[in-house]
Amino acid sequence: MIKLKTTNLTRRFLGLVAVNGVSFSMAEGEILGIIGPNGAGKTTFINLVSGIIMPSEGKIEFKGRDITYMPAHERARLGIARTYQLIHPLENLNLIENVMVGSIFAKGNNLREARRRAEVICAELGLSNLERDTSKLTILEVKKMEIARALANEPEVLFLDEVMAGLNADETKDLIAMVQKIAKERKLAVGVVEHVMGVIRELTNRVIVLEAGELIAEGPYEEVSKNPRVIEAYLGGGAA
Ligand SMILES: Nc1ncnc2c1ncn2[C@@H]1O[C@H](COP(=O)(O)OP(=O)(O)O)[C@@H](O)[C@H]1O
Ligand SMILES: [Mg+2]
Repeated sequence: MIKLKTTNLTRRFLGLVAVNGVSFSMAEGEILGIIGPNGAGKTTFINLVSGIIMPSEGKIEFKGRDITYMPAHERARLGIARTYQLIHPLENLNLIENVMVGSIFAKGNNLREARRRAEVICAELGLSNLERDTSKLTILEVKKMEIARALANEPEVLFLDEVMAGLNADETKDLIAMVQKIAKERKLAVGVVEHVMGVIRELTNRVIVLEAGELIAEGPYEEVSKNPRVIEAYLGGGAA
């Protein structure tokens, strides 16, 4: 079942076309990699589908429903969640309270129900000592908190924006297994932005490649990584 679909999705910032005519779809149970050089438009694409910014042109559909101009909080309630590349925990709130936020605002759960659900999700992700101040968390725990916060929205579609960045090899392995388990159990459609190609190879079923806002290739990682246009985009675009 197709969960999310964009048609000719475009976003301009003054003279710059950050996302340019991107058509794609994401199905239930699929882990889709979204790759491309720095500045390719990956985060802007996630901002568009999660409703943080509005498109200049094009269409976004969630399970066949037109959500192109729907506000972010309504999309969250429908079932689209995302993590942020730059994580800003709410500093006056502890670990579990940060996770509860999604459940309260997106789903309208009361405090007690939100806490109960947050506890289940945190346990699933291996987070403990849930009353800790967020400044006391390790990097891995911060990343897990960010994922837990998104899962507290009870999403059907989840975008992870460079959630593995800054983790060591063992932590990355741990998180890859966790994302796979979560996606499978919840039948999620997951969109993953990562710069480490080993992570993309391990984690995803399929990738789309963005370059200067355009979708230039699509397919299994093994195939796409051999595509001359993709290789050229990475070599020409500097850091991968
Ligand atoms: N709010 C904004 N205003 C102006 N330009 C922006 C804005 N957000 C992103 N951009 C530009 O859009 C392009 C794509 O950025 P981004 O989506 O962050 O790329 P990526 O996540 O692939 O590294 C970049 O050139 C970036 O500078
Ligand atoms: Mg980005």
